[in-house]
Amino acid sequence: MKALTWHGKRDVRVDTVPDPVLKDPDDVIVKVTSSGICGSDLHLYEVLGPFLSEGDILGHEPMGIVEEVGAAVTEVRAGDRVVIPFNVSCGVCHNCSQGLHSQCDTSRVREQGMGGALFGYTRLYGQVPGGQAEYLRVPFGNKLPIKVPEGPPDDRFVYLSDVLPTAWQAVEYAVVPPGGTVAVLGLGPIGDMACRIALHRGAERVFGVDLVPERLARARRRGVEVFDLAADHDVADTIRGLTDGRGPDAVIDAVGMEAHGAPVGKLAQQIAGLLPDTVAEKLMRKAGVDRLSALYTAIDLVRRGGTVSLSGVYGGMADPLPLLTMFDKQLQLRMGQANVHRWVGDILPLLGDDDPLGTEDFATHRVPLAEAPQAYERFQKKQDGTVKVLLRP
Ligand SMILES: NC(=O)c1ccc[n+]([C@@H]2O[C@H](COP(=O)([O-])OP(=O)(O)OC[C@H]3O[C@@H](n4cnc5c(N)ncnc54)[C@H](O)[C@@H]3O)[C@@H](O)[C@H]2O)c1
Ligand SMILES: [Zn+2]
Ligand SMILES: [Zn+2]
Repeated sequence: MKALTWHGKRDVRVDTVPDPVLKDPDDVIVKVTSSGICGSDLHLYEVLGPFLSEGDILGHEPMGIVEEVGAAVTEVRAGDRVVIPFNVSCGVCHNCSQGLHSQCDTSRVREQGMGGALFGYTRLYGQVPGGQAEYLRVPFGNKLPIKVPEGPPDDRFVYLSDVLPTAWQAVEYAVVPPGGTVAVLGLGPIGDMACRIALHRGAERVFGVDLVPERLARARRRGVEVFDLAADHDVADTIRGLTDGRGPDAVIDAVGMEAHGAPVGKLAQQIAGLLPDTVAEKLMRKAGVDRLSALYTAIDLVRRGGTVSLSGVYGGMADPLPLLTMFDKQLQLRMGQANVHRWVGDILPLLGDDDPLGTEDFATHRVPLAEAPQAYERFQKKQDGTVKVLLRP
């Protein structure tokens, strides 16, 4: 089959690789019909190279049609339409039954000291072949696939794999009080969807911050009050001015480890990028290699006693944080990979024909798998208005 594989920094290719096969009796093979490119994939493309091997298949936002099922699979059958969560979660262990699917005890990558495995996401998360491919092997076939109805286009459902539950969890963890305010840093797919969900769930005011004009415009069209980081050097002060000088009740960081405006982290990431992989891996495991400007803004901006909800991915082990401020302001900080299955029941009712979250025109680009390398490049460089790309293998 064809699959998008990693070959090095900013080097992904569409290669011919062996078709996946059933290994365990509860495996399922899915023929992928749509598969998103995520901001998390951009971290693999740029800075997480030391944790990848040449030929790794990327992608963790797939949906498609069940092609084949193992002997023990009773919950889906060939021909069913399914979305596959990015967490490889068993659905029955202690953590899964607490709704902590990203911490699945069964798939946990213990040798790396990490939580549950993820599709297409480095050795740290189990080096599981990903879904930017024609076919995908899916373990836990009775629990993991989310069955969705026939009829509406893939775009209505594909974001159940990641964007919707991640943005939902970001808003849930932000605990915005009724009539309260929230600022969302980063208006990529995750931040944009978090704004939509916050408004839908009754936040009084949603402030969105980014520096890409089309992303700001897109959020503004949905009722977000937007602020251009490139034009306003003290966005935190500006937003505080609109919230009686206090700051919003919550701030969602939907930026992560490659934030703009963080020279120290950028240097650390560049140095890591120049080292041989084994040395870089050691450095990244021990050092503070994240670009922290978005997180610093979140801590500065949120009101005293407010909540910072972190959905942007970070990876440094020794990142300096302003604990004096965090303690003095009495902040709560919640974070983590999304627990996809935990939120599916809340989100599915919003995927009807009225489409209140605007899933059907959420993607800016829909391209064949063969064009994925160019799509990665345009997404990273924010060219051609790219916000969300769906591959159609
Ligand atoms: N927690 C999870 O389960 C989960 C799931 C999916 C994605 N993510 C993470 O969420 C983050 C966003 O993903 P995305 O798909 O929206 O990617 P993205 O890269 O398109 O979005 C990031 C946005 O942040 C903006 N930005 C950069 N620096 C900024 C700053 N200092 N202040 C404000 N905005 C800034 C960029 O212009 C961009 O629009 C990534 O770190 C990704 O890895 C986490
Ligand atoms: Zn993702
Ligand atoms: Zn589990």
